[in-house]
Amino acid sequence: MSLTRIAVINITGYIGAEVARLLCRHPKVEIVSVTGRTEAGKRLGSVMPHLSQLDLMIDPAPGEADLVFSALPHNASAEAIVPLVAKGVRVIDLSADFRLKRAEQYQQWYDHTHPAPELLQKAIYGIPELHRSEVAKAQLVANPGCYPTGAILALAPAVKAGIIKADIIVDSKSGVSGAGRALTLATHYAEANENASAYSMAGHRHLPEIVQELQALQPGETLAVTFQPHLIPMTRGILSTCYAPLAEGKVAVSQRGAAEVQQLYRDFYKGETFVKVVDTPPQTKQAWGSNLCLIHPTIDLRTGRLIVVSCIDNLVKGGAGQAIQNMNLMLGFPEAMGLEGLPVYP
Ligand SMILES: NC(=O)c1ccc[n+]([C@@H]2O[C@H](COP(=O)([O-])OP(=O)(O)OC[C@H]3O[C@@H](n4cnc5c(N)ncnc54)[C@H](OP(=O)(O)O)[C@@H]3O)[C@@H](O)[C@H]2O)c1
Repeated sequence: MSLTRIAVINITGYIGAEVARLLCRHPKVEIVSVTGRTEAGKRLGSVMPHLSQLDLMIDPAPGEADLVFSALPHNASAEAIVPLVAKGVRVIDLSADFRLKRAEQYQQWYDHTHPAPELLQKAIYGIPELHRSEVAKAQLVANPGCYPTGAILALAPAVKAGIIKADIIVDSKSGVSGAGRALTLATHYAEANENASAYSMAGHRHLPEIVQELQALQPGETLAVTFQPHLIPMTRGILSTCYAPLAEGKVAVSQRGAAEVQQLYRDFYKGETFVKVVDTPPQTKQAWGSNLCLIHPTIDLRTGRLIVVSCIDNLVKGGAGQAIQNMNLMLGFPEAMGLEGLPVYP
């Protein structure tokens, strides 16, 4: 049987390169075209030696393919994608351009008028554990942001079951690759190494995504979510610790209540290959390089708060791996195909 032809737009960014790295192991697809801006015209292996087994030139624009991944920054991504969608090509966008359902919200958070607001309702938010059947039928998948993936998966069971009050805090720590490959002062070695810092305290762009998805699970109540990201000196990984007061009368503030919450989470994610509810607080290294999201829920017995810790690799479950999980669903392949690798530990 012939292989499905894949194009990767912006191969020279961290996410584009990670899509290619993971797809090299996929038995049912073949990367036929990769693009880059400043490196166009060069051999991929000369720019990214770890991808030398892909014998491809870097093109300025994608060649013909059955499915395209766009790993461009927002705005640029929508511009590249809109003509492809019009031609009927199936597209997975790793940028933020099609994640928010409301164009005015996109304008507010991304300071840019959306070029194709009519596609926002058509795009499916690609978190397979919540939207599996819609992803399978989608032409355009909006791959979730890295922070939202960890936060939404950590909170979805509790929000859906109504066991917490609508007052949620998501406190996240990310490695430096989350900021992309282009150098900025904050990601300079001397600034990031041996340092930890909070940023975007006035509101991070991933907040509306988190609210959009959690709110859909509990439409009757307006959720108040504080999301605070931090930059810490590691290459990959996001650790999110989420807090919310327990709703009255739903779960006992006791060891037994904590066990019930853990069971609720296990039931919610029963049968999921990539989301694992674990017995001890997970660590970023336990997800490193894999498509896993490790989650540990418990109750603070002194305050009656739910605490949930989640860990992902921002470039895999938080980006390229989840995109390939979505691709598998869209193409009717086993969902875990090409993503079977376990985390690299330690
Ligand atoms: N990093 C993560 O953990 C992560 C996770 C999930 C989603 N994402 C999303 O995935 C996308 C790619 O992220 P990334 O981290 O891979 O970014 P990145 O490594 O910073 O890639 C950005 C590169 O894109 C190229 N570029 C910048 N502006 C461009 C434009 N207008 N047109 C064409 N090329 C342009 C530049 O390369 P040249 O100068 O060589 O052209 C730049 O170095 C973003 O939308 C990001 O939000 C990132």
